[in-house]
Amino acid sequence: MNKLNHIAFIMDGNGRWGKKNNKGRNYGHIKGVETVKRIVKSSIILKVPILTFYVFSSENWKRPKTEINFLFKIISNYFSKEIDSVISQGIRINIIGELKKLSPELKKVLKKSIQLTKKNKKIIVNLAINYGSKNEIIHAAKNTKKLNIRNFEKNLFTKHMPNPDILIRTGGHKRLSNFMLWQLAYAEFFFLKKLWPDFNSSDLIKIIKKFKSSKRNFGAI
Ligand code: IPE
Ligand code: IPE
Ligand code: MG
Repeated sequence: MNKLNHIAFIMDGNGRWGKKNNKGRNYGHIKGVETVKRIVKSSIILKVPILTFYVFSSENWKRPKTEINFLFKIISNYFSKEIDSVISQGIRINIIGELKKLSPELKKVLKKSIQLTKKNKKIIVNLAINYGSKNEIIHAAKNTKKLNIRNFEKNLFTKHMPNPDILIRTGGHKRLSNFMLWQLAYAEFFFLKKLWPDFNSSDLIKIIKKFKSSKRNFGAI
């Protein structure tokens, strides 16, 4: 049985879900947050130590300003209004990505959430916000004095963390969209047609089961 340390999610399909249900794209984003909450709860029960969610890519700035602002608003509302629940569930929040481009309000609420949850031990939840893997890699390379794999990894946002064992992408596209290109080198990939708001705990359990019994070689036989 494979040990499971870390699951990464590309939670795609919110916009299409909103449209399909005769509401706007933003309604899909609201539903997407509900899915994140459910999946974190289930992962605590399933004893998954680390989750990473792709929330906003460095390419998502190409979207209309209204959608971008709405996305940031729901993130900041969530952490202002529901931080007590995050704390009581034992969730440790960590952010990967470049915070400097975000608004001062959002930065403040994120930093506060990191601070308030830093001693929590049940699960680590990484949120990738304004995250782009190519930028991360260039940044790490520039900051590594003696370039080798170990030193380089110490300069990635995911330093001190095991790499994802599983990547799950909903929404039907089989691509990485600039997400954890380095860290996913040996992950098991699961691509689902389902849109993110429809992703549920039983999907997660099925994937974990498959992963546990899969044969991971890491180059050996
Ligand atoms: C993913 O859903 C969430 C974010 C990028 C924030 P999308 O917004 O990409 O939804 P689709 O792919 O357009 O349906
Ligand atoms: C990937 O979804 C980014 C996030 C889930 C945050 P996109 O919808 O932005 O990906 P592309 O543009 O279809 O590749
Ligand atoms: Mg998309």
